[in-house]
Amino acid sequence: MRKIIRMRRRYQVPGQPEDSHRLELEETRAVAAAKERLLLIHIQEMEELYQVLRARVKELEAARQENQEMFLAAMEALARTLEAKDRYTRGHSGRVAKYAVRLAAGLGLEDGFIENLRLAASLHDLGKIGVREEVLNKPGRLSPEEFALIKEHPLIGARILAPLAPLRELIPWIKHHHERYDGGGYPDGLKGEEISLGARVIALADSFDAMTTDRPYRKALPLEVALEEVRRGAGSQFDPELAVKWLELPWTELAQLPLTCH
Ligand SMILES: [Fe+2]
Repeated sequence: MRKIIRMRRRYQVPGQPEDSHRLELEETRAVAAAKERLLLIHIQEMEELYQVLRARVKELEAARQENQEMFLAAMEALARTLEAKDRYTRGHSGRVAKYAVRLAAGLGLEDGFIENLRLAASLHDLGKIGVREEVLNKPGRLSPEEFALIKEHPLIGARILAPLAPLRELIPWIKHHHERYDGGGYPDGLKGEEISLGARVIALADSFDAMTTDRPYRKALPLEVALEEVRRGAGSQFDPELAVKWLELPWTELAQLPLTCH
């Protein structure tokens, strides 16, 4: 463009500087218009690219959601597999999950933690799949050897779930759901806050459901008696802060909920 202007200047008729100036002005305007058109094309292309990216992100989010739902359905199937084998704990995992979620919500814990808790509580007894059926379903009290077999189930559950990367954080909650706050539990004899919060919540929900439902060796305890057991166990069997919150839950209302549903 500058070359053209220079050529025009060389062949300019003397005495007509206005024409040359006008030409230069027109050329500058033409260049500006061309630049503007290019910019508009560029903006349009960017907008199209943005739309394509948005659609792709939406697709990926839908696929992620679908994968998550499939994963949760597979976990639910695992939990139900156990309940098909162990008739005394039918409905137990679902109720423990409900109680654990209710306690966690009462404590104001964050949504992500509560969702993980729901899953871990649903799977907490999965390891019983690895315990012989005649021991699991034995009416009456267990012998020390049989009880030793039952006590393996938190470790078996942790081993079964170990290859599943999305559950890595939850595995200690399952492995330690039979630990006691005073260190007298199993499998590792952990004490106080050495036991993860998820495991402490599940331990309380699990024991409470065991107390309030019929077992092979005894009838369900009345609600008031079970709540008194939680009060007595605060600081020994149970985390005292969790026990206090547990006793504040609206149990009259919760007791009306059907206990056998998931
Ligand atoms: Fe258990």
